[in-house]
Amino acid sequence: MADFVVAVDQGTSSTKALLVDRSGAVVASGSAPVGIAYPSPGWVEQDAQDILRGVRLAAAAALRDVDPARVVAVGLSTQRESALVWDRVSGEPLGPVLGWQDQRSRDICIRLRGSEKEIASLSGLPLDPMFSAAKLRWLLDAAPSASAVGTVDSWLVYALTGAHHIERGNASRTQLLDVRTGTWSPRLLSLFGIPASVLPEITPSSGDLGVIGPAGGVLASLPIRAILGDSHAALFAHASSSGGSFGGAFGGAKVTYGTGSSVMGLLSSPSTGLGLTIAWDAPDVVRIGAQSKNTDVQLAAEGNIRSSGATIGWLATLLGVSTERVAELARGASSDGVFLVPAFGGLAAPWWDDAASGLITGLSLGSGPAQLAAAALESIAHQVTDVLDDLPDVRQVLADGGASANDHLIQIQADLAGVPVRRARTRNLSALGAANLAAPWPAAAIAYDEFRPRIDQDDRSARRSAWRAAVHRALTTAVGS
Ligand SMILES: Nc1ncnc2c1ncn2[C@@H]1O[C@H](COP(=O)(O)OP(=O)(O)OP(=O)(O)O)[C@@H](O)[C@H]1O
Ligand SMILES: [Mg+2]
Repeated sequence: MADFVVAVDQGTSSTKALLVDRSGAVVASGSAPVGIAYPSPGWVEQDAQDILRGVRLAAAAALRDVDPARVVAVGLSTQRESALVWDRVSGEPLGPVLGWQDQRSRDICIRLRGSEKEIASLSGLPLDPMFSAAKLRWLLDAAPSASAVGTVDSWLVYALTGAHHIERGNASRTQLLDVRTGTWSPRLLSLFGIPASVLPEITPSSGDLGVIGPAGGVLASLPIRAILGDSHAALFAHASSSGGSFGGAFGGAKVTYGTGSSVMGLLSSPSTGLGLTIAWDAPDVVRIGAQSKNTDVQLAAEGNIRSSGATIGWLATLLGVSTERVAELARGASSDGVFLVPAFGGLAAPWWDDAASGLITGLSLGSGPAQLAAAALESIAHQVTDVLDDLPDVRQVLADGGASANDHLIQIQADLAGVPVRRARTRNLSALGAANLAAPWPAAAIAYDEFRPRIDQDDRSARRSAWRAAVHRALTTAVGS
């Protein structure tokens, strides 16, 4: 009897897999690391076959004690915006996966600056090298014979099932989709110079999305029933677990603390600092807030932060210690006026300055590893608060993602945002959301830990304005505060 769903979350730092039973309980999990290379400043590369291997390994680990015949469906959650090109006949990738943090297509964006308003209005996203469109232009210039382009979800579906598809929410992160119609925009394709012939076909987020072949290892012969962008999947998990009362229970925003962070709220016309995105295209699922013309399509406002958990990873490497050690150093210390602005590849939401430079301010002879660790952790919460400030009426924040395991970080978040933060006890909501969408049975409720603000408004304002002063030093574009 089919008793389980398997969900695979292909993230930037690792691939995670969960085995979820009919009661919604996570009964087993697995993970596999993903290689990442930084061959020159601003370049971030991953390997398509390595990503596929990681999916196989993580799934095999989650299914180590269970016969795959007892699995009814597979759900996929993937990192978004990262792009690659391949040969449709041989199936061989032609070049690296350009990670979402990669900045090499900056010049392509600079050349398009006269059209940035039109691009933002059609795609819902500010013109930025983070999104796939400019990356694909760069990749096609480097490999003109490429006959297929795609994102990580698109590559995995191609490698696992042979179909050249892309899920609609992931497609909305390419900057080539008309976000309001949910179809490829001829105008955006022409601006970025992407021929329609190399594009994948757009599919909904749920339904019969293909049967996995031998490339899937233990997943072979299982049907894919759900595909979501990782941040969207986390939002779906928060939503589906509250059984339709999401609008009421939500009252604000969800934040996924991964390598980067995604802040999502329920607005159909976000302010300029945020983007408009397709959360999912799935019939008969919980509906929250904003709608598009296509009634199965759920819209959301989103602000992306390029470096959140990655900042901790960077500092750990710099200090020659583990990520856990950085977290430990930060727990016992105050930043003592040190601010770290992690603009490693410019700053995304709400600043959108791809030339902003990373910096550390407020150093004194007394500043040591502990102050830097505290400043690194605080930078995550400050950046998230910068985006929350752009969302109206946030009464609570729902948190998830690898770095949300850090209680100290979540407490700082509640302090700086000035609202309660409810942190999901299940760490990997991206995988859980994909499992919930793939499963033929109802989702189970998620348990949360609540963190309440512990500082007063004066303290909060002082810390926020000192942070903003540091950000203003990092920016190259003049903005109001
Ligand atoms: N205790 C901790 N405190 C702060 N950050 C942490 C902690 N543990 C892990 N991290 C950070 O969390 C990140 C990993 O989280 P997660 O597994 O959710 O990311 P991911 O899914 O691979 O990335 P993404 O979702 O952005 O694609 C790493 O950048 C790591 O440095
Ligand atoms: Mg993730």
